[in-house]
Amino acid sequence: MALLELKGLSKLFGLNAAVNTLDMRVEEGQIHGLIGPNGSGKTTVFNLISGFLRPSKGKIVWQGRDITLLPTYKVAKLGLGRTFQLTALFKEMTALQNVVLSCHLHTGVNLWQQFWRNKKTQRKEKAVEQRAMALLEQMGIADKAHERAADLPHGHAAALGIANALATEPKMILLDEPVGGMNPTETTDTMERIKAVRDQGITILLVEHDMNAVMSTCDEITCINFGCKIAEGAPQNVCSHPEVIKAYLGEEINICLP
Ligand SMILES: Nc1ncnc2c1ncn2[C@@H]1O[C@H](COP(=O)(O)OP(=O)(O)O)[C@@H](O)[C@H]1O
Ligand SMILES: [Mg+2]
Repeated sequence: MALLELKGLSKLFGLNAAVNTLDMRVEEGQIHGLIGPNGSGKTTVFNLISGFLRPSKGKIVWQGRDITLLPTYKVAKLGLGRTFQLTALFKEMTALQNVVLSCHLHTGVNLWQQFWRNKKTQRKEKAVEQRAMALLEQMGIADKAHERAADLPHGHAAALGIANALATEPKMILLDEPVGGMNPTETTDTMERIKAVRDQGITILLVEHDMNAVMSTCDEITCINFGCKIAEGAPQNVCSHPEVIKAYLGEEINICLP
């Protein structure tokens, strides 16, 4: 059984099919890449999976359970974490405070307890802070813990977005263009960290425009164009697929020709 399965998934915006009868299976423990030219429907697929958008047709199955109509917070509670293309950070809070907040989704410290701050709550908070710190370390930004999120350069903000997603103890995370706008060194570094996340057993669905990053990281790739799947399989096969090459023609990216 696939961890996540999309069955005939479609999303119409007016007459425009942003996603068109898409079938896709994400196997547990893999980094599955979802690629396609600009406007091909990648972010829409993410919004459908995470419950931000309702599909026009089709099903989303998570661990054998139909989650098509579940609201966002319930999808997150089932272990499906996500980051956003424009990293949704609380800009005025520090990096550490951002991750602490994300951790609270899972620790059960509610606002009432925060108010009374009894001994047990304080201990819990300490543990949460330590976990948040460990996540910042894992993403290579522990030294930025006390900086305002708004002041972080793009690469570090993206790393913080991933730390936030991991804070909810997900079985799988959805990463939308995690290396967008990064320089080559930052890109390599981030992709290595993403592989390390996979190696600790978290499945990853990765939307990325940077072909080289995708090629060197993914176990399996699905390529879409105009919302339709045009190729799927091992990175080597997908990137040399004629339909994929055609779809990317005119885009300013390097694609490895066969
Ligand atoms: N909320 C929306 N309303 C109308 N059209 C949308 C909306 N979101 C995306 N689209 C359209 O759907 C298509 C796919 O967009 P998107 O999923 O953002 O592509 P990608 O992430 O691959 O660049 C585009 O044509 C885009 O203009
Ligand atoms: Mg997008």
